[in-house]
Amino acid sequence: MSRQLFTVGPVHVEQDTLQAMTKPMITHRCKEYKELHHGIVEKIQKALNTDMDVFLVGGSATVMIEGAIRNGVNTNSLGITNGSFGNRSIECAELNGKTVEKVQVPWGMAMKPEHIAGKVTKDIEAVHWVSNESSTGVFSDSVALAKEVRAQNPDALVMVDAVTSAFAMDLKVKDMDPDSLVFGTQKALALPPGMAIMLCSEKLLEKAKTVPNRGFYSDLLKIKKQADTDYALTTPPVSLMYALDYQLDRALKEGMTVRYERHAQMAKMVRDWADKKLAGVFPEEGYRSNSIGVLNRGDLDFDTFNSKLKAKGYEISNGYGDVKEKTFRIGHMGDTTPAMVKELLSAMDEILEE
Ligand SMILES: Cc1ncc(COP(=O)(O)O)c(C=O)c1O
Repeated sequence: MSRQLFTVGPVHVEQDTLQAMTKPMITHRCKEYKELHHGIVEKIQKALNTDMDVFLVGGSATVMIEGAIRNGVNTNSLGITNGSFGNRSIECAELNGKTVEKVQVPWGMAMKPEHIAGKVTKDIEAVHWVSNESSTGVFSDSVALAKEVRAQNPDALVMVDAVTSAFAMDLKVKDMDPDSLVFGTQKALALPPGMAIMLCSEKLLEKAKTVPNRGFYSDLLKIKKQADTDYALTTPPVSLMYALDYQLDRALKEGMTVRYERHAQMAKMVRDWADKKLAGVFPEEGYRSNSIGVLNRGDLDFDTFNSKLKAKGYEISNGYGDVKEKTFRIGHMGDTTPAMVKELLSAMDEILEE
């Protein structure tokens, strides 16, 4: 049975977007491909208001979250974490042989400049964190964090996982000035999974020249060389790129400010509902995600509630990581609309009233 997805990703994909994937196949070394690639890069730059390099890499976002570390860190990084995905980026660095200084912020709380006071010492080559922690629904202020990193150590690279915030919330990329900012197709771009997108700075490319063992697949210097001629390094998911191009047109037509506002509106509807009908939301006030609502279960028998919701044709997401048993998550991003969220909330009301 097909269900309406209010999940954390993959998320609901519109029928016309899926249709855009069915165009005839082309090879990835032809003129038509170059035009497609070039157009996507320009549209991403326009939507995110940046002139940084944009790299398109087949795979899920993690390939380039790991890639950033492999290219930008010889020995030492600082990982700030307030949840599962922050922990994972630290794991990525450690499994690649880097020594990671860790800053653990309590789950549900935002990462703030004061948490890294005095920590970005001269030997720290990069600082990495997650802008929108999908396990807790916390959206930290990455602009403030990046400024704090630079104030302490101007040489340290700033590596941001924007997997569930890009295209849902304004990341203020110019103000943040990250060295890498990574996201994928299956979240707020409302596409099937399969491509990692990385904004990359010149500083990271320069640093990569000094880092050995960058591998092949995510070697930024190889990727950059191909990207400069509108090619991908290895075979890209061309069908998905047709749909990505289509979705970027949709986002630009809507207007990014309107898009961000729509996400804020959906988030408010879910938070208000949780405050009124359940035990409120999990993340700290003032730092709540507009793409993912992480709701406290309170006394709710979530498994029964969830199976009844599934029977009505809606799919939401379980809690995740350390807060799996005390929360659940509602994804409201991409092409999901306030009208769709209203329908979901009515269905949830009906179940609570039963
Ligand atoms: C914040 C965050 N970072 C990283 C990932 C991993 O992304 P992917 O599965 O596309 O590699 C996810 C996936 O849900 C995520 O939510």
